[in-house]
Amino acid sequence: MTVSVPPRPREVMTALVSPEGRRDPYPLYDALRAHGGLVPVKPGLMAAVGYAECSRALREPRLLVQDAASHDALYPNWRSHSSLRGFTNSVLYTNPPDHSRMRRLMSAAFTPRRVAGLEPAIVRMTDRLLDRMARLGGDGAPVDFMAEFAYRLPVAVIGAMLGVPDDDRIWFRTAVEHVTVALEGVSRASDLAPADRAMDELAAYFTALVGRRRRRPADDLISALVQAHDNDGERFTEDELVGNLVLLLAAGFDTTTHLLGQGLQLAFAHPEWAARLPHDPHLAAGYVEETLRIAPPVHATSRIAGTEVDLLGTRVPAGTKVLVLLAAGNRDPRRFPEPHRFDPARPDVQPLSFGAGAHFCLGAPLARLEARLALPRLLARFPGLAPAGTPTLRDRLVVPGHDELPVTVGRPPAAGDGLGDQRNSRYR
Ligand code: HEM
Repeated sequence: MTVSVPPRPREVMTALVSPEGRRDPYPLYDALRAHGGLVPVKPGLMAAVGYAECSRALREPRLLVQDAASHDALYPNWRSHSSLRGFTNSVLYTNPPDHSRMRRLMSAAFTPRRVAGLEPAIVRMTDRLLDRMARLGGDGAPVDFMAEFAYRLPVAVIGAMLGVPDDDRIWFRTAVEHVTVALEGVSRASDLAPADRAMDELAAYFTALVGRRRRRPADDLISALVQAHDNDGERFTEDELVGNLVLLLAAGFDTTTHLLGQGLQLAFAHPEWAARLPHDPHLAAGYVEETLRIAPPVHATSRIAGTEVDLLGTRVPAGTKVLVLLAAGNRDPRRFPEPHRFDPARPDVQPLSFGAGAHFCLGAPLARLEARLALPRLLARFPGLAPAGTPTLRDRLVVPGHDELPVTVGRPPAAGDGLGDQRNSRYR
């Protein structure tokens, strides 16, 4: 379906938040970029849509994330929402010095060694889930890839890393689905009742688990964070510890789930690359980077100018909100020739998909590892994997992805098979 593209930035922005715009935002990102890399939308709001402008905005220390103080100034009632309160206790919504302190504590626990050590477990979990898909779809029945694989793998991995008992992971999908609405921006505050309930449940769950790990530490991330809290001169408050655990859980699988979904959808749209993926061990890294570039799980983040800033020659007045459209920057033709073309052999990709600067995604190495291991194994195991019917897209602006992606495991795919009206500019 083609979205008609209105010319003025303000109108483009209105179209972007409409259901059609959320479904296929790329023509609208292009329409915004026609006005420059950093576009004034209305007084107090600018949109970064160029690669260089997004990258610079994220690295500029005078552009701040929306912390409790800026929420206080902008949204007087925000404290009545436990979902917003919970996330403002985490690294994602704090600025220095609190952010630097928490980020140091988290980086000390979330080490490259801990991530690399997960590789054999990720392979085991992947193969177990592929066995399950084979059982569910062995008679030709459609299997929902999102529910049966793309969600289950990251939740099992982050669950194992955190040290969450297996049986407790079952209710996480619904809780995280609800709580992440709070990350879509305060404009949806009226929709926050389910997010608040989910935050209350998750916070109570992690508070109890932290108590157990404090009494009896284990070899897991929760214990490592609890110990960093207890033994170092630097400290988490109890609320920060719980807020960051909810963030790790939510960020740990909501996003990676959609990276796997997008990776498979692109495989269906580009069977020539899909066929090579299981046999070319060097291709996986490029395939995943290009998936991250062209179909990033997280489309946007934002910053607020603490003081006036000159951003690559454009003045950003103090107090201006800068919407950083990562997905738009990833398709900037000044940075990527033929930006709408999926090309896993593209050199020097460095997508904006994990952010940049002080808040660069803590879990990027883990998400990359999961996708690089899982996608080739999936396609090797089911050479006849094919779309079955129409996938349903999530109605979200920040983390769009799929709700359902039905597949059959036994029939060889034909180009474009079953993509139907999902063949929009997300998958060119
Ligand atoms: C494909 C998967 C993922 C994507 C696309 C993604 C994307 C992002 C982005 C764009 C940011 C920066 C937000 C900003 O600057 O405002 C971020 C931050 C963060 N991510 Fe991820 N993420 C992914 C996976 C993960 C995983 C697996 C984890 C943890 C297990 C994780 C934990 C975090 C944390 C803790 C932050 C906040 C860092 C800070 O504020 O200092 N993410 N992520």
